Parts: sequence; C-alpha cells; structure tokens
Amino acid sequence: GDNALHLAHKHGIDLEGACEASLACSTCHVYVSDAFYDKLPEPDEREEDMLDMAPLLQENSRLGCQVI
Ligand code: FES
Repeated sequence: GDNALHLAHKHGIDLEGACEASLACSTCHVYVSDAFYDKLPEPDEREEDMLDMAPLLQENSRLGCQVI
C-alpha cells in the first residue's frame, strides 16, 4: 500500500521501517504538519503504544507506516 513510509521511499527519503508496517517498532516515527495531522484518522491503540516508545515524541508524532 501507499502509506507514508512507502511514499517516503519512493521520493528517496531514507525513513526507516524496520518491521515493514506491522506495528512492532517505532523506527518509522515521523512528525506530521499541523494542517495535515488534523485530516488523519486518530492513531489506534497499537500505534499509540508504539509511539510511546519513540524517542522525541511530539504532539504531531505518528508512525509513518500507519499514515495513509
Ligand atoms: Fe515498524 Fe512502522 S515500520 S511500526
């Protein structure tokens, strides 16, 4: 699928995605711009749990592989 992780790769951005979008890591952690963040569906519980382990967590943090 074309989640943000794949899109980043397509555009030559070296975003890590150690678990291949299976919500078992937080290496695909990204910051989403405010305007776009509000348009995204809320992160589900599994994403929240993983985000809690991500370094430098911010209000606009998401896991790149879960952002479509
Ligand atoms: Fe592991 Fe996104 S690639 S949670």
